[in-house]
Amino acid sequence: MSGPSGRLTPVVRVAPAKLNLTLAVIGRRPDGFHDLHSVFVPLSLCDRLSLVASAVAADTLHVTGIPVGGRSGGGDNLVLRALAATRRAVGGGWAGGPGPAPAIAARLDKRIPVAAGLGGGSSDAAAALDGALEVWGAQLDDQARLSVAAGLGSDVPFFAAGGPALVEGRGERITPLRGLRGTPGILLVTPPVAVSTPDVFAAFAAIRGTGDGSVRLSSAHLASELGSGLGVNDLVARAGVMASANDLLPAVAIVMPGLVPFRRALSRLLQRPIGLSGSGPTLWVVYPSSSEAAQAAQRVSTAAADGSLAVPGDGALFVAATTVASSIIALDRSPESGPAADTAAG
Ligand code: C5P
Repeated sequence: MSGPSGRLTPVVRVAPAKLNLTLAVIGRRPDGFHDLHSVFVPLSLCDRLSLVASAVAADTLHVTGIPVGGRSGGGDNLVLRALAATRRAVGGGWAGGPGPAPAIAARLDKRIPVAAGLGGGSSDAAAALDGALEVWGAQLDDQARLSVAAGLGSDVPFFAAGGPALVEGRGERITPLRGLRGTPGILLVTPPVAVSTPDVFAAFAAIRGTGDGSVRLSSAHLASELGSGLGVNDLVARAGVMASANDLLPAVAIVMPGLVPFRRALSRLLQRPIGLSGSGPTLWVVYPSSSEAAQAAQRVSTAAADGSLAVPGDGALFVAATTVASSIIALDRSPESGPAADTAAG
């Protein structure tokens, strides 16, 4: 039997993680948020979201994979908020209108660690926005899409745009950067500590208020290079600059002091610059290939298991080798990419 919209098969979307290769904080805005200048790249590590029209009264969400906490299925989950916001924006303008668009049953296979600085929840929201439009046979123009995305969270417009980009303003000004040639390997290491993004920005505002001008310069330089053309080895050669080009580093050190010795220990173990994604706690290392990132993942997992790498927090360390994705559409279409191509070790 077909659902209320007439579709028989679920709409499936991949929802990639992101890394901030640079993150300059320009200053605090009157609305309390901060203006940023940040180079974002999507990764092949991704969640998978499937959506189907449902005859029941309300949207539902079933989560498998990495647990997202007790409130995962509640109305506070960004997937459910994205469905509700998209329905409001569509109004009666869907295939079966003029009434409101029908409820959706959503299934989320979670592979991206939660609250880790990898943008997983925001990416799920962007995937829900896009997928719901297809389920309903509805369209929103670019401006309306951006407005729904920005209302859901600062990182959502980046995921809605779909590729490496310079992100400015609160997160709503997106300039695509299409110059990356090749596929760099990325090692992700997420210690089991909770770092609250609002707490990090509050600590930043308390100690500094504005970013270090040198981070802004590094960010502008990388954005310009990634816009015009940059090979994998050139990107790896800039790892040291990128790893220190995050204005939130001092604030994260205040909110989560244990991350500082852990980052230092990881740097000693791998002999590479270690970056922090967003407000953390995920640390990243860039490699020329996915196989080198996978070897490094093995070393980190072994060192954590034998106790030679002391891990802060309680619980399992998340370690994954992944790659930078040139676009989200490429991820959707490539059987090679997605969670199956990534190696994760607890
Ligand atoms: O928009 P989002 O809910 O992801 O933001 C989480 C928190 O991060 C905000 O409440 C704010 O404290 C901080 N933030 C900020 N400036 C930004 C993005 C986030 O101050 N551009």
